[in-house]
Amino acid sequence: MRQTLTEIYEARVAAGTLRADPAQHSILPALEDLRLWLEAQGERRASGLLSMFRRAPDAPPGMYIWGGVGRGKSMLMDLFVEATVTPAKRRVHFHAFMQEVHHGMHAARKTGAEDPLAPVAEALVNDLRLLAFDEMQITDITDAMIVGRLFEKLFAGGVVVVTTSNRPPEDLYKDGLSRDRFLPFIDLLQTRCQVVELESPTDYRQHRLQGAQVYFHPAGRAKGLIAGIWADLTGGAEGQVLRLTVNGRNVDLPRFANGIGRASFWELCARPLGPADFLAIAHAVRVLILEDIPQMSSTNYNEAKRFVILIDALYEARVKLVASAADVPERLYLEGAGSFEFERTASRLREMQAADWGK
Ligand SMILES: Nc1ncnc2c1ncn2[C@@H]1O[C@H](COP(=O)(O)OP(=O)(O)OP(=O)(O)O)[C@@H](O)[C@H]1O
Ligand SMILES: [Mg+2]
Repeated sequence: MRQTLTEIYEARVAAGTLRADPAQHSILPALEDLRLWLEAQGERRASGLLSMFRRAPDAPPGMYIWGGVGRGKSMLMDLFVEATVTPAKRRVHFHAFMQEVHHGMHAARKTGAEDPLAPVAEALVNDLRLLAFDEMQITDITDAMIVGRLFEKLFAGGVVVVTTSNRPPEDLYKDGLSRDRFLPFIDLLQTRCQVVELESPTDYRQHRLQGAQVYFHPAGRAKGLIAGIWADLTGGAEGQVLRLTVNGRNVDLPRFANGIGRASFWELCARPLGPADFLAIAHAVRVLILEDIPQMSSTNYNEAKRFVILIDALYEARVKLVASAADVPERLYLEGAGSFEFERTASRLREMQAADWGK
């Protein structure tokens, strides 16, 4: 039997996987309306009606859900996307989506396209009725200059956009360069999406980690526990590589899902990454799971130095760290150049284990 989103949500509350939250609950009916509309489009298409009109002319406004971290925005969006039966749907991290758009435009330029954005938007409009973006944020001028025209084409093509963000539309790309050229995009979002603030008082991510152990040693025995934390925070997602661009270079975070990053010490500290790269990683995640931190000494001085920079970046950005290591923080680097500086790192590692630490 078909369940409404409210019924699915309530079943999860009854099963104990979610806590009843009135703010979350109040958003479900509007998402249900969108779901019904999208599913009806699929039926029209199946019955051949759409071939006459090609696509539905007036898509209803999508939804822009914003609010503080851990309030359940992504959870609600995922619930909606998963329950909506249509092949023409896609859920994507906003950052990864913009990277794809840049790639597509680059390829179009090579073939001499006059407007490189046109074929990219056309492909999206042909394939999709629902585009769900997680974590819309615009910090980059190249993105800021493209999104207006891109979204205009998506909306004109009848694509429904649902998105989550930590900021209301009017604060996107705040203080950015040439912001006046970005303002039409804000207007567009406000007219083509219902803007909803998720005003829940609870940061559920913090809540889930509250009181939980987040620093494990020795690392070998923690594998299963860490896998459990990953599964709990990501809802069991596989995770994907998150590609960040830093000063024109690609920096890959090996696994990423729903704001949670995951890497081994070696994947981050044995590669030639520097402060800008670690800062970019710190800004891209809410929680970093870092596994297999070894005992370090002057023989792996470079790795130790990078580890110090990584922890500083995570600390500045108030990222929650879940780590497995060879030993307690104070015993990770006992002798060799830089062991004095490492004391600060050890102290920060301690502080970052506090229950109320986090973005
Ligand atoms: N009502 C709830 N009861 C229990 N857990 C919840 C509830 N809502 C969300 N969660 C869980 O809390 C965590 C954070 O939720 P979610 O990722 O949806 O937050 P968010 O609003 O998207 O945060 P951010 O702005 O950081 O992306 C997830 O693991 C999610 O499954
Ligand atoms: Mg989220």
